[in-house]
Amino acid sequence: MKEEHPIVQNSTELYHPSPETVAQANVKDPEAVRIEAAKDIQAYWAKRAEELDWYKKWDKVLDDSDKPFYKWFTGGKTNIVLNALDRHVKTWRRNKLALIWESEKGEVRTFSYHAMNREVCKFANVLKSMGVVKGDLVTIYMPRIPETVIAMLATAKIGAVHSVVYGGFSVEALHGRIEDSGSKVVITADGGNMNGKKIELKKIVDEALKRSGQPEHVVVIKHLGIDVMMEQGRDYWYHELMTLPMSKNGLKCETEVMDAEDPLFILYTSGTTGKPKAILHTHGGYSVGIHATIKDVFDLKEEDRWWCTADPGWITGHSYIVYGPLIAGATSIMYEGAPMYPYPDRWWSIIEKYGVTIFYSTPTAIRGLMRFGESWANRHDLSSLRLLGSVGEPINPEAWRWFYKIIGKEKCPIMDTWWQTETGMFMMAPMPAQPLKPGSATKPFPGIDADVVNAEGKSVPVGEEGFLILKNPWPAMMRTIYKDPERYVKTYWSTYPGYYFAGDSARKDSDGYFWVIGRVDDVIKVSGYRLGTAEIESAFITHHAVAEAAVIGLPHEIKGMAIHAYLILKSGNEPNELLIEDLRKHISHELGPIAKPEKIEFVSSLPKTRSGKIMRRLLKARAQGLSEGDISTLEE
Ligand code: WT7
Repeated sequence: MKEEHPIVQNSTELYHPSPETVAQANVKDPEAVRIEAAKDIQAYWAKRAEELDWYKKWDKVLDDSDKPFYKWFTGGKTNIVLNALDRHVKTWRRNKLALIWESEKGEVRTFSYHAMNREVCKFANVLKSMGVVKGDLVTIYMPRIPETVIAMLATAKIGAVHSVVYGGFSVEALHGRIEDSGSKVVITADGGNMNGKKIELKKIVDEALKRSGQPEHVVVIKHLGIDVMMEQGRDYWYHELMTLPMSKNGLKCETEVMDAEDPLFILYTSGTTGKPKAILHTHGGYSVGIHATIKDVFDLKEEDRWWCTADPGWITGHSYIVYGPLIAGATSIMYEGAPMYPYPDRWWSIIEKYGVTIFYSTPTAIRGLMRFGESWANRHDLSSLRLLGSVGEPINPEAWRWFYKIIGKEKCPIMDTWWQTETGMFMMAPMPAQPLKPGSATKPFPGIDADVVNAEGKSVPVGEEGFLILKNPWPAMMRTIYKDPERYVKTYWSTYPGYYFAGDSARKDSDGYFWVIGRVDDVIKVSGYRLGTAEIESAFITHHAVAEAAVIGLPHEIKGMAIHAYLILKSGNEPNELLIEDLRKHISHELGPIAKPEKIEFVSSLPKTRSGKIMRRLLKARAQGLSEGDISTLEE
């Protein structure tokens, strides 16, 4: 990026909220709440938990007898669906819109809370009839359509555990995730519009299932109306199942009473090894965490129309498209298609059309749309907006200012939220009634204690770069890595014993504002998507021409980071353009278009340590013409 990196360059550039923003804010004095919560963190979270419904109140707020396997609200009985649907349909909100959906072509579907609940109940009965019971795993591999939300809620309602796999992932990524989870059922669609392309999802499922042990059933939603293969006895059409007698009694499906600590979902995310980690979240603490954060940070009100542009397949979608807004009883917008379709003002036209009041998106998207100039935004009435948000990667001040001025018309504060799949909820984020600095996620959420430390775990001085850690547990935290508790302890709690290691570097300025810089491990954030270098390298190796592969992330003007691959070819293979094209196609087919490398270079050797580990740091330094640093462990 040619522009300054979002660091403590300009901590005097402050944006104060307007008096109206402060007057209507759910939290009038964020600093006071942060200080109050820090005095008694458990009392703070107990208070937030009391804002929700429970079948039975908890005995203990936090059980830390088996660190780092923290437990929250133990003894409490709940189900996330109790708060997301059941309690709303008993009130006037049954007539309120829960979801407004628009397809790329402009087709619109809306669901009141009543309608959403009816569809969820019906589909929950379908799942039950397929033998899905409490604790079973269900894989959901879908485009951005209402049925994705219905499937997630129906699974949760009966106490089963969902594993949503982003619809932009492809065969190998899907296969690995289905197999590792041991899913009984896969829910998918014939196809979907993913970022402007028609993706044949069912076809990818068929290929993935050839590689793994077969789940018992596949449920297929007819969305694009394309031809698909249906295997008898295994594959069923959703629309046919939804008319069967057992689903007709829809509204008579009881919500399963769960322990607060029972699993709600697993979500795979990339780490430093080739095998993705299944991050496990639970019903109780997760509900409390996302409820508190969406209410305070995005100041959600009954009248709001909330739009988070993420995909339900990522944690942002789980927490802030599906569960968070529904728990809040809000109206959520979901758009299936690409932001540039048919012109680069599609998003702005959606904001105008539905009167969106809060808009939550990503730095990559903002940078991408910025490129087309402000006239696309200026031809729409964006005056309904009152708050903006950003997530997924650091937002550079230039993009921040454009978002603030051109989209928010200098009256909408931008909530830059720093968090992770693992944290489940915002860890660091401003609140509307506090001053902002472009590029800083500002301060930890109440009850969160963050710090920046050096390799020895000591706090670094103000302005210096270090590792970002979290010093105490929080309700929506991951509980473990599904089937791999050792990796949970090792990855997150062993670098600085007792503290959660996030894998990011950051600085803290003299006002106590945090500036997240980026990943310090072998994770690359491409357009905000999280990919592991090892995962991509493994996919390269499955190509017949490749002997060895090394993958690094390098800065990219729009995507934030981009993938660069260094390959050693097996002898007899010509290093030419044709092969490069074929390799890019191969990665796209195996992992998905998001993993497509920006650049592929053929090399005759790779820098390795004496123990054989690829020194990606060195490749990175060389590619950027930077100092090679300490190379004492280099082989040769
Ligand atoms: C990583 C987590 C949870 C939201 C979606 C991404 C980076 C996320 C920010 C931000 C700077 C950010 C970090 C983090 N990140 N939000 N506001 N500022 N960096 O979830 O895929 O689990 O990735 O995204 O590097 O560790 P994820």
